[in-house]
Amino acid sequence: MNKELNIPNHVGIIMDGNGRWAQQRGMIRSMGHKEAIGTLKKLCIHMADVGVKYASLYAFSTENFKREKSEVDYLMKLFVNSFKKEFKFMIEKGVRVIFSGRKDPLPKKVLEAMEEITQETKNNNKLVLNICLNYGSHAEIVDTTKKLCEMYKNGEITLDKIDEDFIQKNLYQDLPPLDFVIRTSGELRLSNFMMYQASYAEFYFPDIYFPDFNDKEFDKAIEVFNTRNRRFGGVKSESKSN
Ligand code: FPP
Repeated sequence: MNKELNIPNHVGIIMDGNGRWAQQRGMIRSMGHKEAIGTLKKLCIHMADVGVKYASLYAFSTENFKREKSEVDYLMKLFVNSFKKEFKFMIEKGVRVIFSGRKDPLPKKVLEAMEEITQETKNNNKLVLNICLNYGSHAEIVDTTKKLCEMYKNGEITLDKIDEDFIQKNLYQDLPPLDFVIRTSGELRLSNFMMYQASYAEFYFPDIYFPDFNDKEFDKAIEVFNTRNRRFGGVKSESKSN
């Protein structure tokens, strides 16, 4: 990758199109999820190497429980296998794995595997990998509101303590804002992904299914990010009239 490029500090990835990738090849949808693990492993190494500091992945939304039981069961097994085996390389690679989302109703085995990889990587600091699992922005806002109400009720905070920064720090994880959100598969939606954190993110929607989203595609995305003029609601510079 061109060394002059500005690397976004926090990248969000909505890993969409696994099912269609598999169906296009005459396979069942779950085979697309399986293929996605290989893609993800390579992508994490690449992101750590190019200097991304935080990456948030949309692995399973609160709404995904509405899918066929066979697909949900397959995904739960895939999560356990990933955190207990496939992702072990992250310990050596300096990747710290954390999670965002509701615990209930995730199976015990998934929760245990999540805890295991969290503990094993807790001292790493090259790349923070935030895996959104049983995650939804609406649920996050509800859960954060309840947490702040409890703090208030217990006398731990006064109302003037609650500002934008305090809310951000009390979301599921205390993370910097998203700079860049990539959603593969050509769908142009946020689908309840990190709405609070994405308020000034740049968006990129490559027309490619996630299993095919390789390092080269990621580099292309970074080049597009570098063409964006981020103003955060202000103006960068006065234009000259003469
Ligand atoms: C969306 O594609 C993908 C998902 C709901 C699951 C994402 C899961 C993975 C990439 C694998 C596991 C990840 C981790 C972190 C271990 P889709 O199934 O909606 O595809 P479609 O839009 O073509 O139907």
